[in-house]
Amino acid sequence: MKSYFRTEIDALDGYTPGEQPKLRHIVKLNTNENPYPPSPRALEALHAVEPESMRRYPDPAADTLCSAIAERFGVRREQVIAGNGSDDILTMVFRGFSAPDLPVAVLEPSYSLYPVLAAMQGAPVIRIPLEGESFALPENVLEQAEGANLLAMVRPNAPTGNAFPKAAVREICAKFDGMVLVDEAYADFADDNCMDLVKEFPNLIVSRTFSKSYAFAGMRLGFAVSSPEVVAGMFKLKDSYNLDAAVQAAALAAWQDTAYLSGRVAQIRRDRESLRKSLMDMGFRVVKSQSNFLFAMPPGGDGEGYFRFLRENAVIVRYFPGPVTGRYVRITVGTPEQNAELLRFTAERFGGK
Ligand SMILES: Cc1ncc(COP(=O)(O)O)c(C=O)c1O
Repeated sequence: MKSYFRTEIDALDGYTPGEQPKLRHIVKLNTNENPYPPSPRALEALHAVEPESMRRYPDPAADTLCSAIAERFGVRREQVIAGNGSDDILTMVFRGFSAPDLPVAVLEPSYSLYPVLAAMQGAPVIRIPLEGESFALPENVLEQAEGANLLAMVRPNAPTGNAFPKAAVREICAKFDGMVLVDEAYADFADDNCMDLVKEFPNLIVSRTFSKSYAFAGMRLGFAVSSPEVVAGMFKLKDSYNLDAAVQAAALAAWQDTAYLSGRVAQIRRDRESLRKSLMDMGFRVVKSQSNFLFAMPPGGDGEGYFRFLRENAVIVRYFPGPVTGRYVRITVGTPEQNAELLRFTAERFGGK
């Protein structure tokens, strides 16, 4: 059949999400999900959803939730917008700030959805390679991003796990002539974050997700904080009812259960460090991580071979082909039992170094 799609869509490969295997009894460490359940209060809130709130349309602005988020960060209500996962937020950002004559600058490696969102807009992509084995932000990032209307970065970065210096992000916000997106999907696992910079720089958008730290990947809740002007513009770009009533109620309950979040995050951070050490003891190179995953290069640098070996043993991690990323795998920090299972098979292959 003749295609009636826009040329950009016909040319598009589309985003490849991490595998969601149907099999039970696998150790699933491939999509950075939280290995623990969400807050029990979130489940209680879900059970308490009234038939009436299913019958009626939900609050299009998720006002109660956004007000609670604004209060925690000390910003105005008009500075917060919620989305159906942070991918929904990212879609609004790329729709709003990229076009054939408005290029996007992205770091490499970074979240592989960004180039796909840019391609949907027909926007040119400026790719800025991270430097060395520590995947550092290049000093001349601003020079390289020259001409872009949107500079998108993940902090802590995915899939590498490291966090760029906050001072560098501040300098970018101050000097870049365009919008800066700092995707903080993993910020709850990090030592610091860039949320306070939003008060200083109107061209900064900080996005967050409940998928990882709040164990909400299946519920879909993300949000962004920016200047009131930018949030007002993004509001025009979103689907009218992008968040159902149940997720709004559950997310508010999870957001308020700060003690539960801190406990789970602390456990994952501890286990991240011990998993990193065990892998390094077997000769792996492992990037120092500020997130809930590790970017690890097996001895010999055959990331794909290690990925396949684990897969044959029902341990699933994420592999990104490519000259740099292909030497590594990305391993989500699981429960201590899951991590032990990964290490047991890894020792079979690399234990003797
Ligand atoms: C860097 C980054 N941003 C955003 C997302 C999207 O998360 P969600 O749409 O589940 O909020 C992910 C998911 O893996 C991610 O790694």
